[in-house]
Amino acid sequence: MPLPNLVERSFELAAARCEDLTPLVYRQLFREHPEAEAMFRSEGSDLVKGSMLALTIEAIMDFAGDRTGHFRMIECEVSSHDAYGTPRELFVAFFGVIAKTLREILGADWSPEIDSAWRNLLAEIERVVVRSDA
Ligand code: HEM
Repeated sequence: MPLPNLVERSFELAAARCEDLTPLVYRQLFREHPEAEAMFRSEGSDLVKGSMLALTIEAIMDFAGDRTGHFRMIECEVSSHDAYGTPRELFVAFFGVIAKTLREILGADWSPEIDSAWRNLLAEIERVVVRSDA
């Protein structure tokens, strides 16, 4: 039997409980990294934030799953975010903020297996970002 994709499973469990992750993820981001708030434009940033999160989740699912191509977006965004002035550590931190938000939504259903799948994924993403010298 193939290994269940636990990262994908964590998103499914969260989706069943929470219609929109966007406000929760950005609340968590700005709590942990208050300096990030001013990096988004003051008008029209809700759209940007929503689509940035949606595309990031798409890339995470692809990275944790079939790797058909969406995951390459991560490397592309490293260089566009260098241009936006987003420090690399903050860029990487966004993935951890998503994981933390899911963990809070899942509560007791955040299993040790899900936790370790996420830890591996975050470590791997960090390597991709650090390696990227675009
Ligand atoms: C906390 C870390 C991050 C900050 C502060 C940040 C900030 C920003 C800013 C300022 C924009 C431009 C908005 C505009 O046009 O006004 C943006 C766009 C975008 N961000 Fe992020 N970002 C972060 C992490 C990420 C990550 C990890 C990804 C995915 C790998 C990502 C994907 C995108 C995408 C897809 C866009 C849309 C525009 C484009 O294609 O470049 N962001 N982000």
